[in-house]
Amino acid sequence: MLKFRYYGHSCFQLDDGNYKLLFDPFLTGNPAASITSNEVQADYVLITHAHGDHIGDGYEIVKRTDATAIGIPEVMDIGDDVNTIGMNVGGTLYLPFGYVRIVPAIHSSGIAGGVAVGYVVSIGGKIIYYAGDTCLFSDMKLIGERDRIDYAILPIGDHYTMGIEDAARAVEFLGAKNVIPVHYNTWSLIKQDPKEFESLVKGATVCIVDPGESLRLI
Ligand code: NI
Ligand code: MN
Repeated sequence: MLKFRYYGHSCFQLDDGNYKLLFDPFLTGNPAASITSNEVQADYVLITHAHGDHIGDGYEIVKRTDATAIGIPEVMDIGDDVNTIGMNVGGTLYLPFGYVRIVPAIHSSGIAGGVAVGYVVSIGGKIIYYAGDTCLFSDMKLIGERDRIDYAILPIGDHYTMGIEDAARAVEFLGAKNVIPVHYNTWSLIKQDPKEFESLVKGATVCIVDPGESLRLI
């Protein structure tokens, strides 16, 4: 059974019962955080880019849990005393639970020489696409052709990323069966009504998950 646990903003965990994958672990200073950096569990920590609201507590969590951080090499330069795997866009990494593929995102990286990325993850018999921070781009069609996406996790907050109209179009480009909106309502600048997003999405189920809640991915 695969579980999605939403910790607020863009931080969430995928748990297949054996492995816990933590994404964009921004908890300290996150007004929407539903767990603390000291409590959260992880075997792998996947970071999309080095903006503070994504890399967040990554180093501290990887050090405490002895997890392995995954990201592009520039972002993996977080410390010599933690486990990291640096990879790059287009690469696929096979791990005991499935695989992790890095896919493009269009956004600034927050670090010199870096790029922002998204992830396609195979875990628990499902394919999950997490866009990270990005605008809408037409190559999302390629991402959806390469892997049949069961759940797309997309930012909808606008201002720093795509907003609800473009995110709804992204769902069509991806051909995703389900979509979980993130990266909204953390601050007033990214205030959005997820119900309005839901009304714009065609051909997919919108799963609105509040911080602190979890969803069984079926
Ligand atoms: Ni960002
Ligand atoms: Mn962000």
